[in-house]
Amino acid sequence: MIQQGVFITFEGPEGAGKTTVIAQIFERLQATGRKVILTREPGGIRISEKIREIILDNDHQEMDAKTEALLYAAARRQHLVENVIPSLEAGYIVLCDRFIDSSLAYQGYARGLGIDEVLSINEFAIGETMPNTTIFFDVTPEKGLARITKNSTREQNRLDKESLKFHKKVYEGYQELIKRYPDRIVSTDASLSKEEVTENVWKEIEDRFIKSTHS
Ligand code: TMP
Repeated sequence: MIQQGVFITFEGPEGAGKTTVIAQIFERLQATGRKVILTREPGGIRISEKIREIILDNDHQEMDAKTEALLYAAARRQHLVENVIPSLEAGYIVLCDRFIDSSLAYQGYARGLGIDEVLSINEFAIGETMPNTTIFFDVTPEKGLARITKNSTREQNRLDKESLKFHKKVYEGYQELIKRYPDRIVSTDASLSKEEVTENVWKEIEDRFIKSTHS
């Protein structure tokens, strides 16, 4: 299968400020005249949004870690088939808020299922479709969680409510992934202001995917 589009994913711990920055990047890309879509995981399309509700429901405290990993992978598969792959084939830049690295960091590392084990169920789900670039929003779990607590309008889901210890593991998991995929994952300092983070992320994307297409 020939992929003409560009697949960019955004990752990070809770409270890293991804959502606002990604929306800005989306607008800037649109302004260049490029075809671009913005989507998220788990979710993005009807079936995967339903799976999201099941996973993140605060009532589902008894959910087993492997069930959780499989549900994320199932949501990912459906979203990929219905949205990401057709968009890439049609030449779109696809911006996705979270993707496989969230499963590797949260379920593989923090839940203790193992990065390689979670990678293998995800390989079954996604086949060859890996992101061209992944932007990691680097903020310490302490700072990220403090931002969430300050933002009283944000509803806290089942994973937000995990302990600081869990979120520290998530952060460590991402550090492992940065070592494992140094060419794909780019870190950005997300402790800076939203405006500064947007500028830095924009520079990365512009250098990699916009400037090169004009030269
Ligand atoms: P968010 O939309 O606020 O980022 O919430 C999604 C939550 O799900 C967040 O806590 C990260 C978590 N998550 C995983 O644990 N594994 C995954 O594969 C994905 C996509 C998200």
